[in-house]
Amino acid sequence: MIEPLLLRVVHILCGMFWVGSSLFTVLFLTPVLMRAGQSTASTVMAGLQARRLFTVLPTIGVLTIASGARLMWITSGGFSRTYFTLPMGRMLAWSALFGIAAFLVAMLVIRPASARALRLAAMLQEPGASSDHETISARLGRARVLTVRASAAAMVLVVLSAIGMAAARYAS
Ligand code: HEM
Repeated sequence: MIEPLLLRVVHILCGMFWVGSSLFTVLFLTPVLMRAGQSTASTVMAGLQARRLFTVLPTIGVLTIASGARLMWITSGGFSRTYFTLPMGRMLAWSALFGIAAFLVAMLVIRPASARALRLAAMLQEPGASSDHETISARLGRARVLTVRASAAAMVLVVLSAIGMAAARYAS
């Protein structure tokens, strides 16, 4: 019985990290960076990239999903149909879908948009960028808006997933 125990520890720790960092980013870091101005925001984002945040977060997401999928395989007796007709199984399945959707939004929307924002911000610092400064600034603004909106959507999904996971065993 060591495997389910280890899986639960990995799953819950990674899930907590994921939900916590998502809430912190959307509710605290982003509003502060938006007020701090473009140059400060770019410096902080570049610093986070240097600390490998954009590698750590997807890894945490993959670990949460992989450990959750394996736990689901074990508790449902190999994804048996009957398990998913029970309230707990159904609730875990919906919560897992919300978590996977949050991961997809992060990988397919937030990650490319924030990488684009970093690239455009670096272009603005380059000597000679003044000629198309306005175009680059406008593109940077759009990339940032997309990042902020998609991050808020992913936060809602991951919080719903966590609530469902925590409540599943009480579902009736
Ligand atoms: C997205 C973020 C997620 C968070 C924050 C999260 C959090 C949690 C928590 C706190 C529990 C413990 C509930 C309890 O003991 O009553 C749990 C259980 C579970 N989670 Fe997740 N989870 C997430 C995603 C997923 C995904 C994507 C899957 C499946 C692919 C999954 C599958 C499971 C299963 C099967 C259990 C029950 C394990 C058992 O009872 O031994 N979870 N989750």
